[in-house]
Amino acid sequence: MCGIFAYAGTENAVPLLIEGLRSVEYRGYDSAGISVIDGSGAIQTVKRGDHKSSLSNLAEAVSDRRVSGTVGIGHTRWATHGEVNHTNSHPHSSSNGLVSIAHNGIIENFLELKDELVDSGVEFRSDTDSEVLAHLVGRAVESGSSLRDAVVAAASRVKGNTAVVAVSANEPEIVVGLRVGNAGGIVVGKNDDSAVMASDTIALLPYTSEVIYLEPGEVVEIEQGKVRLFDLDGSPISREPIVTAQNFEAAQKGNYPHFMAKEIAEQPDAVQSAMRGRVDIASGTLSLPELSLEREHFGSIDRVILTGMGTSLHAAMFGASVIESLARIPSIAENSSELRYRNPVIGPSTLVVAVTQSGETADTLAAMEHARSAGAPQAVVLELEGSQATRIADFTLPIRAGQEIGVASTKTMIASMTTLLQLAVVLAEGRGVVGSVQVEKIVEAIAELPSLVATTLGLNGQVSKLATRLSEFEDLLYLGRGAQLPIALEGALKMKELAYIHAEGYPAGEMKHGVNALLGPEMATVVSAPKNDLYEKMLSNISEVKARGGEVAVIATEGDEIVGRVADHVILVPDCPELLQPFVTLVPMQILAYETALALGRDPDKPRNLAKTVTVE
Ligand code: F6R
Repeated sequence: MCGIFAYAGTENAVPLLIEGLRSVEYRGYDSAGISVIDGSGAIQTVKRGDHKSSLSNLAEAVSDRRVSGTVGIGHTRWATHGEVNHTNSHPHSSSNGLVSIAHNGIIENFLELKDELVDSGVEFRSDTDSEVLAHLVGRAVESGSSLRDAVVAAASRVKGNTAVVAVSANEPEIVVGLRVGNAGGIVVGKNDDSAVMASDTIALLPYTSEVIYLEPGEVVEIEQGKVRLFDLDGSPISREPIVTAQNFEAAQKGNYPHFMAKEIAEQPDAVQSAMRGRVDIASGTLSLPELSLEREHFGSIDRVILTGMGTSLHAAMFGASVIESLARIPSIAENSSELRYRNPVIGPSTLVVAVTQSGETADTLAAMEHARSAGAPQAVVLELEGSQATRIADFTLPIRAGQEIGVASTKTMIASMTTLLQLAVVLAEGRGVVGSVQVEKIVEAIAELPSLVATTLGLNGQVSKLATRLSEFEDLLYLGRGAQLPIALEGALKMKELAYIHAEGYPAGEMKHGVNALLGPEMATVVSAPKNDLYEKMLSNISEVKARGGEVAVIATEGDEIVGRVADHVILVPDCPELLQPFVTLVPMQILAYETALALGRDPDKPRNLAKTVTVE
């Protein structure tokens, strides 16, 4: 939520800041702005609060090169306080003009701090909480503090999680960054000519692949070719950079019209990659080398709690269902924002599994911290290694889908599901619930996953026709049962976030308990009903919707000749073992939402009011 990029070096920072912001724009696109220190030592700020056009408008505004300087900060915003407009855009300057800051996070006591500053004569220009930081830092600098001390002092007054970068006219060579709590990461790197700082590693890759992640409670100064790390008491910290495996090209759109289209198409590779080094097809074995739990520990787990938000919660729900059914351990999936506040009973025999592609989601991190303090062994299933979640968890299970830029998660969900399926098998075998012969059979089935997923991509044309029809509805219902329930919920979530169509996901069995009242010609229903033990139950639900005048689209199994007699639209996915069905029904749900969004003229990569990484609760 919000993207930061900062540069200190020898070149004109302005185009470099714009490029850096392009890499972090997916984190928020309500506004974009930069501040640079110009040749006379003064801070120049240019910003645009034009929603999705902000960054391109900003790039145009600075293209005449009238603003230039070799040190600067930039920010892309996801609005929390104050509407989307020019004045609420970051960076924010102190009224004395000495300082400019860009901020991620929420200042929970900002009204109190604002009142105090207003009482002492400060005039606020914006409605943001962040502006208080600009004035606090500016005042401290005016009274003689170094920029670093001023930023640390200002942050100590603030309640809530904060990531901030700042420049000062008094120290025109440096940028200071600070991180307190989990308001998004800060990563720094340098080469001989420059030093850079950003919310996301990807923005640093044009400069270096050797990066340092700031821990909460750390502050950094960057200067041409130099990075200096300190704790909040001012003691220097020595930390070797790590070489990141992330790659810049992988995060480019290539020939695809949208990142989302590219990421949907990458799903067979994402599944394959999540299996690499874990599934051994030749020997029929499966392992998760990263889960270094002693074998005897497996037997002592009496409960698994999976947690995450949004799409990752749906992956977690799939994980709970597959862990319980294969490993026979009571398992539930719970929304992290609920889990963190309800004082759950968690202890050393509870295995907690967090699912978070970014590893930065504020609620998920808080739930993980709660689990850690309760002494529970904890694994995290995630894409972005180096993110905060890896430092909280005991075990990191990377999904290796490759960085996802489209705001709507697609390939990271399927790769998380692949990883969770493998976790279920490892737990089942570790507890002696399944033997090597059964594992061999499961491995044989899993080996087909990449090609099954690739086959479902070929359904694009059919799904696109259905999308044209569904785009005419204002309300949609999505139904599923068992392991198809998370897929139905995900289908509805995707449709809401991309097409802005009201879509409800429900367990099909819940219909008669109230939802049926909505049925009629005004609402279409999308049903996930592959051939399995619950298929007949789903057929009855479909008939019930039809009997009330509702139009029904069903995702069913190839060879199903019955469903077409009751449903209006049928999308047939490949026949496969029940364990793998959620993978093949998921893909048409994603394509359906993508195509519906296009039919309605929406931008699938930048849905309104959303951001990729949700670092505030
Ligand atoms: C929806 C979507 C979000 C994320 C959620 C959690 O398409 O992407 O619902 O799944 O914000 O994010 P992570 O996985 O980064 O914790």
